[in-house]
Amino acid sequence: MRNYYIAGNWKMHKTRAEAAALAQALVAQLKDGKHKYLVAPSFTALETVAAIVKGSNILLGAQNMAAEEQGAHTGEVSVLQLKDLGVHTVILGHSERRHTYKEDDGLINKKVQLALQHGLEVILCVGELLSEREAGKAEAVCETQTVQGLAGVAAADFSRVTIAYEPVWAIGTGRTATPEDADAIHAYIRQVIARLYGADAAQQILIQYGGSVKPDNAAQLMAKENIDGALVGGAALKADTFVPIATFQ
Ligand code: 13P
Repeated sequence: MRNYYIAGNWKMHKTRAEAAALAQALVAQLKDGKHKYLVAPSFTALETVAAIVKGSNILLGAQNMAAEEQGAHTGEVSVLQLKDLGVHTVILGHSERRHTYKEDDGLINKKVQLALQHGLEVILCVGELLSEREAGKAEAVCETQTVQGLAGVAAADFSRVTIAYEPVWAIGTGRTATPEDADAIHAYIRQVIARLYGADAAQQILIQYGGSVKPDNAAQLMAKENIDGALVGGAALKADTFVPIATFQ
């Protein structure tokens, strides 16, 4: 049996005070929660949230990271700086990074390798555009992003990787993939992992679904055999909507 892993990606929302209030509410309300939990605030709130989630059952995540360890990279944040703040996991390859900020698989792979070398866990996001789904390419796109994102990652490090399937057309749109459609892609990704890392690794890896996950659809999605959790955007911004997702039975 795999664990469930529910993560909140707060994207570019919340001042430090707002982030602190949400983190405090989540620590209190999820303290008896049975699943694996993570919150990923903006860089500016990491230190504040780190102090609040410390010692709780909620892990601290960052939403992105530079591909280089340090140096002349104006505006970037390094793995060393994230570790210094107590970050446990970094989300890489989010579709907003891929499509708005033009990150390609090669760059994302450098980040994945660097994060793993430094002992962080990684949530690697993959997912197709609506045009790609309509052209029948959803599986191929997710396969390419998975294979290229993990290039050069050794089996020993792969145990610190979670994959998040986030169909781009379902993010922030209120349009969710059906549980059946999402499960089919998750199963396909699991086959890709079996080819790369073997059957045991494919059974063990957690594959989250992301894209308009809400309290009223979370349980149906996670009831599917291959859906091991959720990467939640909009509904992660309030305890009232995140807690019911995170504590689903
Ligand atoms: P929404 O839940 O707002 O669709 O966002 C999903 C997402 O992008 C999480 O990373």
